[in-house]
Parts: sequence; structure tokens; C-alpha cells
Amino acid sequence: MAEKSKVLIIGGTGYIGKFIVEASAKEGHPTFALVRQSTLSDPVKCKIIDNFKNLGVQILIGDLYDHESLVKAIKHVDVVISTVGVGQQIEDQVKIIAAIKEAGNVKRFFPSEFGLDSDLNTAVEPAKSMYAVRAQIRRAIEVEGIPYTYVASNCFAGYILPSLSVAPPGTASPPRDKVVILGDGNPKVVINHEADIATYTVKTVDDPRTLNKTLFIRPPNNTYSYNELVALWEKMIGKTLDKTYVPEEQMLKQIQESPMPVNLFLALSHSIFVNGDCANFEIEPSIGFEASELYPEVKYTTLEEGLRRFV
Ligand SMILES: NC(=O)c1ccc[n+]([C@@H]2O[C@H](COP(=O)([O-])OP(=O)(O)OC[C@H]3O[C@@H](n4cnc5c(N)ncnc54)[C@H](OP(=O)(O)O)[C@@H]3O)[C@@H](O)[C@H]2O)c1
Repeated sequence: MAEKSKVLIIGGTGYIGKFIVEASAKEGHPTFALVRQSTLSDPVKCKIIDNFKNLGVQILIGDLYDHESLVKAIKHVDVVISTVGVGQQIEDQVKIIAAIKEAGNVKRFFPSEFGLDSDLNTAVEPAKSMYAVRAQIRRAIEVEGIPYTYVASNCFAGYILPSLSVAPPGTASPPRDKVVILGDGNPKVVINHEADIATYTVKTVDDPRTLNKTLFIRPPNNTYSYNELVALWEKMIGKTLDKTYVPEEQMLKQIQESPMPVNLFLALSHSIFVNGDCANFEIEPSIGFEASELYPEVKYTTLEEGLRRFV
């Protein structure tokens, strides 16, 4: 059997990164995590790093803004997965691209995306610019001739299920009296559990079918319209919710009038729930593949199972 590629995760101590580090180690890839020196003294991150060490993950000290440390870390591996966070770090992945070019040994690079497809979405500002930066990173990778896989993971369950809206994970639980429905609630939305996103991502690492392609994580049991999602929740709790529909024009006005980051969350919500950008296009084989079709052996957590935890 061919040896499993060595994998470096840059941003492994982050929200989605820790799932990917864990999945890579559990799948048997020699796994490395690039960690900043300062992170070692953060008590919360220390627990994550201890878990990595228990899984046999090698910790390499480095920083996105320290070129030498990047090149040195990259030289240990075959595959680089970036899960750096939102904002400037996304744009600054050009530094990873430069380090990969210098190291010269990388068989595949995964830039930090893990959302809606950067080329195929119809988001309005300010989300439009956020995706444009990701698309620019894609073009830089392609121009440099670096082999890649892009991951369009769609929505993280931890961001959607607790509140049935787009919100950073917190202690909320889904509404039990009233619910706000953006647009008419009919477009399909795709919501995936973070551990499954990580499993599918790692499955592609040595899969020639996904080389220079996009992995679209759009399993049928996680693809619901918002109306269907609310109906499922109502059935689970045995109660009908009061529904307020927000027309698209009202949402667009709200986006224009809101400060950052409220306008960004609203624009992302508009793209996801009103425009249906998770699933409003066919997946062309020339561009990529759907994850649950490529890897039918993966027993992913369904949206229904995920929602049931809140009953
Ligand atoms: N689809 C969705 O619903 C959804 C939701 C959220 C995010 N996302 C996407 O997922 C991706 C990752 O986001 P996230 O929320 O997981 O990010 P995050 O939690 O902010 O994690 C960012 C990671 O980057 C590391 N990092 C920061 N600065 C660095 C530097 N200078 N050098 C090296 N590493 C550095 C952080 O290290 P420390 O741990 O030391 O801070 C952390 O490990 C992004 O593309 C984001 O847009 C998608």
C-alpha cells in the first residue's frame, strides 16, 4: 500500500483547524501542526496542543509572517492545509504560496476556504469582497502551478444549528417561540458537522480524483431549505413557531445600513438563505466532485441528528 502523505496544518489550533489535525492523525497521516510560540502559553490552546501530542501530531513552531519558519515546516511534508482565520490572514496566504514555491516539495495545497465556493457564489458586499480575496488566492496558486484541492464545505453546523441563523458558536439553542425567515425560505442550504468536513477534507489528500479540483461537501441528508429545517425543528419539539418573513429588499437595505461586522454576517446570511449559494448550481465534473458521492463509506452526522441534540 502506498505510504500516506505527510500533512502540515497551518492554523491547526483554530476552530476548524483542530478538527482537521485530528482527522489527519486518525487517518494515519504523519501530521504536523504549525503553532506560534505565543500560542504555547495560552491555557485554552495548550489543551488543544496536548490533545494533538497525544494523537502523535508533531508541533512545529512558526508563524505565517516568518518566512523561514514556514519554509522549514513545509519541507517536512507533502501536503499543506491552511485553516488560517478570516480577515487579513486569508490575503496573507500569499506568504504560504511563496514558501511552498521556495520549499519545492509540496504535492498539494489546500488554501483556507471551508465555506461557500469562492468562485461560484453571488454574495453582495461586504461578503462579495471577502470571497473575491479567496478567489485571488486560488488564481495565485494556479499561476504558480501549485497542485491544489479547494474545499467548499458549506455551512458549519456549529454556526447555524444552535441559533438557526448565521452566528458564531455560543450557548444559544434553536428558537422555541418565534423564528425569522430570510426571503421566502425556499432555497436549499447545506449544513455540515465540523468533524465530517475534516474527515472528507483528509480523504482527498491522497486521492488523485480531487487533484486540482474542488471538493463540494453537499450530502443529501444535510441539504434542506430553511422552511424544511424549521418544519423539522417544529416536529422535534412538537410546537409550531410564529414565523416572520424578511423580504429581500428589506435585508439588502439592512446590510447597507449596518456597521461591520453585522453587515458581513447579514450579507453571508443573504447569500446562504436568500440566494441559496450552497446548492444553486450543478457540480460540473471538470470543476470538482460532491464528497458523499466520492466517499460513500463516510457515515456523516445528518442535520436531523445534529438538531436532535438541542431538543
Ligand atoms: N463555513 C462556515 O460556516 C465557516 C465558519 C467559520 C469559519 N469558516 C472558515 O474557516 C476557515 C478557518 O476559520 P476559523 O474560524 O477556523 O479560524 P480561527 O478559529 O480564527 O483560527 C485561525 C488559526 O490561524 C492561526 N493563526 C493566526 N495567526 C497566525 C499566524 N500569524 N501564523 C500562523 N498561524 C496563525 C490561529 O492560531 P492561534 O490558535 O494561535 O490563534 C488559529 O490556529 C476560514 O477560511 C473561515 O472563513 C467557515
